[in-house]
Amino acid sequence: MVTMPAPPPAASPPILAADRLAKRFAGLVAVDGMSLAVAPGEMVGLVGPNGAGKTTLFNLLAGSLRPDGGTVSIAGADVTREGPARRLSRGLGRTFQIPRPFPAMSVMDNMLVGAQGQAGERLGAGLFAPLATRRQERAARQKAAALLDFASLAHLAGEPARVLSGGQRKLLELARLMMADPALLLLDEPAAGVNPALMDLIAARIAQINAGGVSVLLIEHNIELVRAMCPRVVVMAAGRLLAAGPAEAVLTRPDVVAAYLGEAV
Ligand SMILES: Nc1ncnc2c1ncn2[C@@H]1O[C@H](COP(=O)(O)OP(=O)(O)O)[C@@H](O)[C@H]1O
Ligand SMILES: [Mg+2]
Repeated sequence: MVTMPAPPPAASPPILAADRLAKRFAGLVAVDGMSLAVAPGEMVGLVGPNGAGKTTLFNLLAGSLRPDGGTVSIAGADVTREGPARRLSRGLGRTFQIPRPFPAMSVMDNMLVGAQGQAGERLGAGLFAPLATRRQERAARQKAAALLDFASLAHLAGEPARVLSGGQRKLLELARLMMADPALLLLDEPAAGVNPALMDLIAARIAQINAGGVSVLLIEHNIELVRAMCPRVVVMAAGRLLAAGPAEAVLTRPDVVAAYLGEAV
């Protein structure tokens, strides 16, 4: 019997892969055959001029938009036909360019809404809630309190979310997402419109989350921040992949620099 050499061990699949994704809006091609992959534990920057299709790509990756073509997979499983809730349960969490917390609800209650197991819905169950339910609720509150502390929002837990600054809303959204223990975060301009002190805090917290093993795909206009945070960068322009590779090499490429010209970045 001839013994064949053992095949090389299969590399673990990317935590996220997009293959030739396409999305049209009434004649406008917003995403035009875009592919990318994120390896487990990686932090990747997604950059490109305004209107390049970055947010639309996030909507396709997170399941809030259906593509006109192409596929999305999470850890090797094809999720193209799954909605956002199912993708979140597979570990994919995303934030929005403009976070919208429930303004009249307390910061703490914003954390508990939609917490896994729907802890928020049980808050009114009161004295007659079964013991197990109350135990779960207490655990959710403890986790929320720890995450608010992590986001430097603990002192505001009882305040209505409307009092939060733009940067604090970004932090609340990030903390709330961490309630679901995501394996992968899609962050849409987490530092946009945030004052410099909070920007440093947000960047540090994202780096900490990534150091804890969570993969991150980060849309960010602040190129200095991208350079500081992301070893690898993907550049989109006009819905397509323009460049991908090590941050420094990609961000100094003449065609990448040209894509930003006229944008006053
Ligand atoms: N829901 C929509 N309907 C119509 N056009 C849209 C919609 N969402 C985005 N677009 C268009 O798609 C293009 C890409 O937008 P977007 O994904 O927001 O880019 P980016 O996030 O890179 O700035 C833009 O021309 C934008 O106007
Ligand atoms: Mg955008």
